[in-house]
Amino acid sequence: KNIAIIMGGHSSEHDISIKSGNVVYRHLSREKYQIFRVHITKEKWVYWDDTEQEHPIDKSDFSVIVDGSKIHFDCVFNAIHGTPGEDGLMQAYFELLGIPQTSCDHYQAALTFNKRDLLSTLKPYGIKCAKSHYLNSGDAINTGEIIKKVGLPCFVKANRAGSSYGISKVYKEEDLEKAVQKSFQEDDQVLIESFLEGTEVSVGVITYKGKVKVLPLTEIVSENDFFDYNAKYLGQSQEITPARITATQEKNVVQLAEKIYKTLGLKGYTRSEFILLEDEPYLLEVNTTPGLTEESILPQQAQVAGIGLEELFDSAIEEALR
Ligand code: DAL
Ligand code: MG
Repeated sequence: KNIAIIMGGHSSEHDISIKSGNVVYRHLSREKYQIFRVHITKEKWVYWDDTEQEHPIDKSDFSVIVDGSKIHFDCVFNAIHGTPGEDGLMQAYFELLGIPQTSCDHYQAALTFNKRDLLSTLKPYGIKCAKSHYLNSGDAINTGEIIKKVGLPCFVKANRAGSSYGISKVYKEEDLEKAVQKSFQEDDQVLIESFLEGTEVSVGVITYKGKVKVLPLTEIVSENDFFDYNAKYLGQSQEITPARITATQEKNVVQLAEKIYKTLGLKGYTRSEFILLEDEPYLLEVNTTPGLTEESILPQQAQVAGIGLEELFDSAIEEALR
């Protein structure tokens, strides 16, 4: 079977996606698959061969010509974080072409990538989240009103972004506007949320051998002010798997993560972030193309569960083709 690993993308997470894609590339079985790395940017879509030579992808049917023969793909391994791989655009394209891919469907991807819409969709199901205020670019920023609503400190986030790009933790009202402007550099929608002081846990939920499986939980202890880019990728945090939480906390967060996965009809790998306030998990977000780099959490969780990377990635393709 021909497998295309798509990587890159249009957002600030481009380089992280390349790392994720290359980890997948190194671990997929050469016996089972012919593997092609496809680099997607705004400017061009190309197949990267082993000598880093580029061959243009034909977007009309997602094929490529190599040495005079046309190659079609049986499955796409989606390793793009951010747009267009995590927000439903690529998913919709592959759905139209009828090519199976490893992440969830376009609607679920678009919904989960939009933090505001995800949280407001899930609230009626009894899922708890932080108090929030939402801004479109051009909206008046009334810092006093916002602080009254969400309190201090608060988090200012790009509504549709990942890897903490555009996020700030704000302690003083006079710093709020600058933080909002920083988020607007990543997205034209900004979400301001109250700070939840509790234990942060990251929960990998995947479909594995036909069943929804929750991986061992990871507790995040950031040495920085919060789990920011440096904490995520430059080792300035402790990621402890399994998390040091009580049996009740574990039961509650596992049940909730599974409920979210099933309620939304997710597929493939996901990794959701929660803050535990005592026994009660509060949802921060759901990632539908979580990082697969050597530093990323989901691969670590899989390994603690006794699932090696080769098996993990192979199972994603098996599920997509099922
Ligand atoms: N957005 C990054 C890649 C993650 O969720 O792991
Ligand atoms: Mg994220």
